Amino acid sequence: MRRLDQLLANLGYCSRSEARAWIRDGRVTISGKVTKDFGAKAHAAHVRIDGEPLDHPDGVLILVNKPTGLVCSHDEREGANVYSLLPTRWRARNPQITSIGRLDKDTSGLILLTDQSELVHKLTSPKHKVPKLYRATLRDDVLPDLIPLFASGTLLLKDEPSPCAPAELKIISPREAELTLTEGRYHQVRRMFASQGNEVLTLHRPQFGHLDLGDLPAGQWRELALDTFK
Ligand code: URA
Repeated sequence: MRRLDQLLANLGYCSRSEARAWIRDGRVTISGKVTKDFGAKAHAAHVRIDGEPLDHPDGVLILVNKPTGLVCSHDEREGANVYSLLPTRWRARNPQITSIGRLDKDTSGLILLTDQSELVHKLTSPKHKVPKLYRATLRDDVLPDLIPLFASGTLLLKDEPSPCAPAELKIISPREAELTLTEGRYHQVRRMFASQGNEVLTLHRPQFGHLDLGDLPAGQWRELALDTFK
């Protein structure tokens, strides 16, 4: 049960003071009855605004096909972000919708967004070993020696105290490779190849855990059930 004014504000409908005005104006019902008490406590499922049920009161989990050029940070100084793809109301929710891990600005592909902090923790913790598949094109030919090196769990990246967890590398063509990681260090794919003198030119993530993009176009998103990872 939550206070009505707080409920509406936290779901991104309006500010708390606007919510109080909406409630005073009789736009809000609890179990079908107009209430003018903005401090009344209610279950979100019983509340309606202008006769409409509340928008995703229990949380959201969203699968996005991130195009290049968008960042996963909320900091506007870093440029246009992936949250700009979402409905305006969702961008005003509290808790805030945030990405589960990150894809850098020049990387495209599957990124999950949610307001469920436990899910962020669960899916980003290296302990849970969620496999993430990346497809890279490279400046130079990929040497087959990288397959056992990346799989060995001994590759130490610059300024990192511990080696990368074992990662599976598949060479698709001389300058195209797929790499499956179970952790998510800063710019990890680019840095793993750079550590061996190569350079990632393009990077795309088609899969995260058991999820893939299917035919979802770049810049589009779809909702997932909140219990997708239960
Ligand atoms: N590795 C990278 O280098 N960039 C990403 O966005 C993800 C993994």
